[in-house]
Amino acid sequence: MKKTGKLKKIAVLTSGGDAPGLNACIRAVVRTAVFNGLTVMGVRKGFEGLIAGDFVSMNASSVSGIIHSGGTLLQSSRSERFKTKAGRKKAFEQITKANIDAVILIGGDGSFEGAKTFTKEYEIPFIGIPKTIDNDISGTDICIGYDTALNTAMQAIDKIRDTAQSHERIFIVEVMGRDSGYIAYGAGLAGGAEAILIPETKADAENLLQVLKKGWKRDKSSLIVVVAEGDESGGAGKVAELIEKHNPGQYIGICILGHTQRGGSPTAADRILASKFGYGAVEALLSGKRNSMIGIKKNEICFTPLAKVKKQHLAVTGNLLKMITTLTG
Ligand code: F6P
Repeated sequence: MKKTGKLKKIAVLTSGGDAPGLNACIRAVVRTAVFNGLTVMGVRKGFEGLIAGDFVSMNASSVSGIIHSGGTLLQSSRSERFKTKAGRKKAFEQITKANIDAVILIGGDGSFEGAKTFTKEYEIPFIGIPKTIDNDISGTDICIGYDTALNTAMQAIDKIRDTAQSHERIFIVEVMGRDSGYIAYGAGLAGGAEAILIPETKADAENLLQVLKKGWKRDKSSLIVVVAEGDESGGAGKVAELIEKHNPGQYIGICILGHTQRGGSPTAADRILASKFGYGAVEALLSGKRNSMIGIKKNEICFTPLAKVKKQHLAVTGNLLKMITTLTG
């Protein structure tokens, strides 16, 4: 099915888990569109709003005073209905009814999967903007939200280190990352963790115990293990059980950072990235680009066809592996 014609009206939505920087991105999309004479509709609650026709008209002042705030002004959802043919048909009917000519989707890999299917079934231009604190989307070096989440996790590790050192304790800090070790790796490295456990590498209990033993032998006053929630070990609780079994009586603190990493005011880096992506996405639509995801690689804005976007895994090999092994422990 087809929707053709000159670009006059666009829709913008945020879909999937929230991430710091979404508001900065919505602001950039709306301001760039208005600057270019386009009408902008905000879609509330992600794909659910697209199906329900829950649209709100936006102008330059509807996005005033939001660049520094976390969450999303438009709200979001993980839509099960958009995974169905009937849900997507309804969404296209709502798009047609509202005379929307193109859609800007600020989403993660799950949302892009939905967009891939939708753009195969219906001819409506889509531009994707990658956001996820997990940073696990191909076609970009970095996604909106990752830098803020990383800093939140690092600051938490720094604070836990104070207590760990004062009392000579072991702490296991669990960070988010269902299938992704980006936060664990980044925050662990920046926080000087003694061990980093991530889903992309095989769990090695023996090695972990050795690393901790060596740490005590070197008279370290604290030990911090950073574990991604999706790691094979089963997360902080399981890692603590394992260490306790081999070190009876040793205090082992557990700190699960959870959704503290998803909220909060975006860092300058996230606000700038979100602004570049929002601006670039509208410019791309105006120049005739269709069904692509904007990204940034080696500091240059780039585009990847939606059909080629997939989950990206952190490759802990070669120099990166060598560096982590050298600096942890
Ligand atoms: O994908 C981002 C993420 O924060 C993951 O790291 C985490 O596993 C998941 O979302 C949690 O999702 P929800 O907020 O829906 O529980």
